[in-house]
Amino acid sequence: MNLNPIPVIAIDGPSASGKGTIAQIVAEKLGYHYLDSGALYRIVGLAAFEQSIDWQVEQDVAKLVPQLSIKFEHGEIYLNDVNVSEKIRTEQMGQGASKVAAHPLVRLALVDLQHSFRKAPGLVADGRDMATVIFPDAKTKIFLTASAEVRAERRYKQLINKGLEADYQAILKDLQDRDARDSQRSVAPLQQATDASLLETSHLNIEQAVNQALMHIASTHQD
Ligand code: DC
Repeated sequence: MNLNPIPVIAIDGPSASGKGTIAQIVAEKLGYHYLDSGALYRIVGLAAFEQSIDWQVEQDVAKLVPQLSIKFEHGEIYLNDVNVSEKIRTEQMGQGASKVAAHPLVRLALVDLQHSFRKAPGLVADGRDMATVIFPDAKTKIFLTASAEVRAERRYKQLINKGLEADYQAILKDLQDRDARDSQRSVAPLQQATDASLLETSHLNIEQAVNQALMHIASTHQD
């Protein structure tokens, strides 16, 4: 039994579900710390790529993890003192993250680092296995999702708004591939914890989703 009194709000869900945006706003509103666990897998993917380590070779990728200095400061992400906030957000690094995240040794190497984010007055943790593996004693567990088509359309619009080229069908296929890999892997697969509440955001805007999450948090913090 974990007796850590610092509350954790675990928000899990698939790629491009909006959970990052929603989790960050919730953390700000509550004055809690924020853990973007996906960024850790993206950083490992990037570091492996930069050192020409094959994402599929578990031992080599896992050995790399303890050598990485990872810092989150003022919304920016640093790897060995280099700001990698933009670099880790590409589709290529998303696929790399999903591949390195399928290795049990890589996941194990990142456990302590994730636990270290649990500081007073509380933590909002965003990922795939926050409620099931990393913080099973989280006070609130939310599984935030939207249909693959809605998620692909959101990502498509984001890219177009940034003036970048985008192909809706290719985005949808990438998301479906990543969902399949993340939910079918043998270790810590993406799945709704039995005690998590489902927040389906296909028909909600960000403000509505944040409000629903806050209402749920308020109801689970009454004791
Ligand atoms: O949330 P994201 O798209 O930044 O995550 C990138 C990849 O990392 C995702 O495809 C699956 C993996 N991931 C994971 O396995 N466990 C987590 N807690 C967070 C992310």
